[in-house]
Amino acid sequence: MLTSIEGRSVIVTGASKGIGKGIARVFAGRGARVLLAARNLSQAEAAAAEIQSSGGLVSAVAADVSRMEDNIRMAQTAIDRHGGIDILCCNAGIFPAAKLFDMSEADWDQVLDVNLKGTFLSVQACLPALKARGKGRIVVTSSITGPITGYPGWSHYGASKAGQLGFIRTAAIELAPLNITVNAVLPGNILTEGVEALGPDYIAKMTSAIPARRLGSVEDVAYAALFLASDEAGFISGQTIVVDGGQVLPESHMALEDMG
Ligand SMILES: NC(=O)c1ccc[n+]([C@@H]2O[C@H](COP(=O)([O-])OP(=O)(O)OC[C@H]3O[C@@H](n4cnc5c(N)ncnc54)[C@H](OP(=O)(O)O)[C@@H]3O)[C@@H](O)[C@H]2O)c1
Repeated sequence: MLTSIEGRSVIVTGASKGIGKGIARVFAGRGARVLLAARNLSQAEAAAAEIQSSGGLVSAVAADVSRMEDNIRMAQTAIDRHGGIDILCCNAGIFPAAKLFDMSEADWDQVLDVNLKGTFLSVQACLPALKARGKGRIVVTSSITGPITGYPGWSHYGASKAGQLGFIRTAAIELAPLNITVNAVLPGNILTEGVEALGPDYIAKMTSAIPARRLGSVEDVAYAALFLASDEAGFISGQTIVVDGGQVLPESHMALEDMG
């Protein structure tokens, strides 16, 4: 039983929907004070209002993680409302598909700006407040796509998600003397609004490719993030936890078929 999250000041980026909202709900349910960030403020406020009933203290702020001024405002909002920052969950991400022959430079820049540069900017904006606490936790939502697997149409996305792991490994070393850990969760296919938008055909095919025979829930990812954010995980840094129902394990289609 992890008990150390109560009363902690937490920022979750990309928290109006999907995995980020799940992380916010699970953390708030254990008494954390959670600031939900997303570009669309009314959606973030609606998510905060929904989560508030789980416990904790939950509110929203509008922030585009690809813009430094937004990240600074987000960090300042957490300081003003909660007196500081203990935990930053860099979760905001986008996954528009484009195959290599069709991908424009703008497509590439958009994905890298939000997913990779956005991670760096959020971390940098929150660092002074994390340092001031004398200890801190940074949990990044990466993906199996990029670090472990590939998928047609997501070369830019995979590069951004693999890039996040390169980022955390050096950030973990730089921030270790400040007692700040930097880790990542690597979700497989998780049933979120963003994945639902990929359509029932995609979801059915993905389900058949996962040994657990289901897509993950947002809570599946949130509990891994909760562990990495806890006091108990204080000696773990620069590491990853795959949350995928065994999706990366089969060496071929035959392995799945032979499951019976
Ligand atoms: N779902 C999966 O199967 C899966 C698998 C592996 C990894 N992931 C990763 O998990 C994270 C969340 O995915 P999801 O499926 O939960 O996505 P989602 O359902 O599409 O939700 C994305 C969230 O991010 C916010 N967001 C998007 N761009 C943003 C920006 N520039 N600045 C701030 N917030 C932004 C969105 O709100 P606004 O649009 O209002 O900003 C929303 O709150 C992403 O990093 C994704 O790469 C997801």
